[in-house]
Amino acid sequence: MKAKILLTGCAGFIGSNFLKKIAVPNKDYDFVILDALTYAGHYPTIAGDIEVNEHLSFEKIDIRDNDAVQNLFKANSFSGVIHFAAESHVDNSIKNPNIFVETNVLGTLNLLNASLHFGAKDLRFCHVSTDEVYGELTENEPAFTEDHKIAPNSPYSASKAGSDLLVRSYHETFGLDTVMTRCSNNYGPFQFPEKLIPVMIAKAISDEKLPVYGDGKNIRDWIFVDDHNIGVWDVFLKGKKGEVYNLGGDSEKRNLEVVKTILKILNKPESLISFVEDRKGHDWRYAMDFSKAKRDFGFEPQVTFEEGIQKTVDWYLSNQAWVESVNASKN
Ligand SMILES: NC(=O)c1ccc[n+]([C@@H]2O[C@H](COP(=O)([O-])OP(=O)(O)OC[C@H]3O[C@@H](n4cnc5c(N)ncnc54)[C@H](O)[C@@H]3O)[C@@H](O)[C@H]2O)c1
Repeated sequence: MKAKILLTGCAGFIGSNFLKKIAVPNKDYDFVILDALTYAGHYPTIAGDIEVNEHLSFEKIDIRDNDAVQNLFKANSFSGVIHFAAESHVDNSIKNPNIFVETNVLGTLNLLNASLHFGAKDLRFCHVSTDEVYGELTENEPAFTEDHKIAPNSPYSASKAGSDLLVRSYHETFGLDTVMTRCSNNYGPFQFPEKLIPVMIAKAISDEKLPVYGDGKNIRDWIFVDDHNIGVWDVFLKGKKGEVYNLGGDSEKRNLEVVKTILKILNKPESLISFVEDRKGHDWRYAMDFSKAKRDFGFEPQVTFEEGIQKTVDWYLSNQAWVESVNASKN
């Protein structure tokens, strides 16, 4: 019998790209996808061109529902969990922090308990986390290493940090085989049109104003989603028990530079840019030192920002029906 891996949150942006890039072509494992299909999880995103069969099955479950999570584990002897599911949008966490704690902290706790009590003896739990748990950097500080202090600034990053610490504690206290990734900002196909890049692409396509927070000088490190997912799979297969691995794109850009690049690709004027009131608690800069992942299993981003952003704009231009349908399901 093949080993069975639970993938949470794979109707969302990163998880659905993980299915396409890693899980669908890999017949060495059986995969069970768990997703609550919140506004950010869109079933046609995964089912559109992915055949759901015995190699790949889907369960609509909310990780906040402990009984449902436990029943799923009792019915399947999972030997691995890759945990993508989360509330993921910082702006939403400023408006309504509670659901971030419920899903990201308590939902993760439910998965950890089920893994410990009902998983296979050698179950490995791979937690997908974010650079945002480290807080922010000033302009010239060295990039975050895995030893950087945990200092989250938004309710989103605080809830992710809470889940990271629970994962750590289940390794330290109960000996659960955990590994963890912390990655920088992802972009690529199927990103929900609420995050910077898809919002700017959609607005530029329809000649609307492009709202840029503050003076647009904040810096993010951008990674193409496939590079992140290759790193997650490497960490799951080769990471050392209990360890954290930073993943990054080696591509720091100011937000304004990203927006101007999108306008240039779409041949639209920079006069569409409109500076708006800054996000509360807006982190200044993120940058990742991923030398540990490079040393331990040769992790290196393959897609340059220039290639990745062109691919992403092209994808959104050809998939406007997808954007309309996910926007409609949110309303
Ligand atoms: N997007 C990024 O730039 C980035 C960077 C680093 C890490 N991450 C992490 O990667 C993971 C995936 O991020 P994403 O951008 O794909 O997010 P997303 O918002 O696009 O997708 C999240 C998915 O989780 C599901 N989900 C939400 N609440 C759930 C619940 N209670 N029960 C079951 N499923 C639920 C949603 O339906 C959706 O399919 C998250 O853990 C996020 O913190 C994201």
